[in-house]
Amino acid sequence: MARRTKTTELTDVSEAQIAVHWKEEEYYQPSEKFKAQANMRDPHILEKFGLDKFPDCFKEYAALLTWVEPYRTVLDTSDAPFWKWFVGGRINACYNCVDRHLEKYGTKAAFIFVPEPEKEADVAIPYRELHERVNEMAALLRGLGLKTGDRITFHMPMVPELPITMLACARLGIIHSQVFGGFSGQACGSRIQDSGSRVLVTMDSYWRNGTLVDHKANADIAVRTAKELGQDVDKVLVWQRYPGKYSAKTPMVPGRDFFVNDLLKEYRGRKVEPVALPSEGPLFLMYSSGTTGKPKGAQHSIAGYLAYVTATSRWILDIHPDDIYWCMADIGWITGHSYIVYGPLANAATSVLYEGVPTFPDAGRPWRIAERLGVNIFHTAPTAIRMLRKLGPQEPRKYKYWFKSMTTVGEPIEPEAWRWYYNEVGKGEAVITDTWWLTETGGFLGTTVPAIHPMKPGSCGPGAPGIHPIIYDETGAEVPKGSGKAGNICIRNPWPGIMQTIWGDRDRYVKTYFSKYNKNPKSKDWRDWPFMCGDGAVQAADGYYRILGRIDDVINVAGHRLGTKEIESACLTVPEIAEAAVVPVQDELKGRVPEVYVAVKPGVQPSQEVIDRVVKAIEEVIGKIARPKHVYIVPDMPKTRSGKIMRRVLAAISNRRDVGDVTTLANPDVVEQVRTMVQGKEAITTQEALPEDIAKFGQTE
Ligand code: WTA
Repeated sequence: MARRTKTTELTDVSEAQIAVHWKEEEYYQPSEKFKAQANMRDPHILEKFGLDKFPDCFKEYAALLTWVEPYRTVLDTSDAPFWKWFVGGRINACYNCVDRHLEKYGTKAAFIFVPEPEKEADVAIPYRELHERVNEMAALLRGLGLKTGDRITFHMPMVPELPITMLACARLGIIHSQVFGGFSGQACGSRIQDSGSRVLVTMDSYWRNGTLVDHKANADIAVRTAKELGQDVDKVLVWQRYPGKYSAKTPMVPGRDFFVNDLLKEYRGRKVEPVALPSEGPLFLMYSSGTTGKPKGAQHSIAGYLAYVTATSRWILDIHPDDIYWCMADIGWITGHSYIVYGPLANAATSVLYEGVPTFPDAGRPWRIAERLGVNIFHTAPTAIRMLRKLGPQEPRKYKYWFKSMTTVGEPIEPEAWRWYYNEVGKGEAVITDTWWLTETGGFLGTTVPAIHPMKPGSCGPGAPGIHPIIYDETGAEVPKGSGKAGNICIRNPWPGIMQTIWGDRDRYVKTYFSKYNKNPKSKDWRDWPFMCGDGAVQAADGYYRILGRIDDVINVAGHRLGTKEIESACLTVPEIAEAAVVPVQDELKGRVPEVYVAVKPGVQPSQEVIDRVVKAIEEVIGKIARPKHVYIVPDMPKTRSGKIMRRVLAAISNRRDVGDVTTLANPDVVEQVRTMVQGKEAITTQEALPEDIAKFGQTE
């Protein structure tokens, strides 16, 4: 293998115990000013959520919600590992995010929408108006015959109509499934099919990097794709970016497509009682990439999920109702669901919603928005931090905003980038929480509690309150803290925010997250079911975790998970392509990007056209986000004698590393041909060890 370890005593370690060499970073302390106002100041908070207090400690989370009927059981493990939280209770998520704030905060903005074009004014939506619009939308959805338990797919951009429609669904118990707006129509279609949605909600257009995108075109492709897969869509509800005006070129399909604004006329002023739903009812599905080509719908519950994101928004993000909070993620990802919509709103926050690209029209944009709106809590991803730093390292200095706290999420952040975030963006005063978690986990797994724990660049910190991580090696032995060795990070215990199952696929849920370390599949004891996150991690002597990245065949591009199998299947839709292999390559801004190797069918001449077709296919099947850095047409793939493609050899080549010993392969000479094609005649391999996620990529082959 291409990996090099610099120490000699580690020659016989297993794959999961790869030594990770990194300099211990120094601590940064939260300011006294921050500590004095923080929501969570109890220095014993982690002990209060110790395993000996589990699961009753989480009653404190449930107490943050308003219940229609109280729950009887905190945690029901009878169908392990399908955990049921707060069983017997009845509750409504929309009521908790909207209605219960009306009396005290009715005139306060719930959302402030910032359009991408700078000449367009911000739009503040007070809680009272949000309540009216959500009610009207709920009345409309009910009028269309949708009811509790039905699924509905959204393919919406970052506009207030998205959370309005989400909350309308939550009011009725309709399970929403938002597909990231930047995904292609085809990707949306396969998710429509998997969820069994008969209604698609979309928008005619939206602004992205200065262009008004015709988004309605994607709806037609999505409906066609779903139909080909066996799922009919009866209705496409189209919001208008400019109400009353159609801003897309793609024609509306009579009888199928309807403008939401037209339909809403019938429901003006209509009120819909929030439905009292069981705690364990599903709130939404969020599709995420896995190791197979088939996307998996993480199913999240109403009460457990909402309790978890409400508490973590309060204690970790430190949201108070009078804060102006801005999470610059997209609602189409789990971060947006949990920490733009549900968590902040349950805390009566003012949540900023920005339509466009952070660097449009220049790298000062976020800081102008922050200054104008008085944003004091800021939340973003390392990829945006790197980009803003590269394009405008001194821009934050030009603006008079002041942040008390900041968050980073989605991928590991390099200490260098962390320090710029801290010194320049946070002006040396804001605390930073580096929150590590997954779509499947609903909310934070690893993070500091900002007024209690010092920060350490590049490490997320200890487990969040009530989250008890453990690192296992391949054999299931615990990797001790301070050993400098990495392994598979798991969570010992269930928590309220954990997904309930993979939609329609119980077996895949058990297999993906539990089977590796569960020794007794019949056990009803939660202690037997550690949750495997799919990340490699090391724990320092101080107990802080450093997340190294995905260890499965998933590439984290700019904080977004893309399944390599999905990208490979997209390549194979090009008729000339015989075989495809996708590997992650390090990228200065996006962290990781896919690089594609293809072999063409006999008789096909390698050409730029073929390469262009592959890129186009990837954009069509998945979206521009998956666009590869390079596509190489190779004479053959490096293969084992049993014919399996050796992706890790390709990953080493792409990342300019030594390919290691390939003599046992079926075609070692192909490796050298591919290597010269990519790296040039002279070997330009670096001596630096490969990052853990890439080193372990394709290991299961
Ligand atoms: C990675 C996003 C390092 C990790 C909320 C995880 C992180 C995957 C961090 C989940 C972090 C997320 N530090 N890595 N703070 N946060 N990740 O499902 O590899 O889109 O498994 O959820 O992102 O991505 P997902």
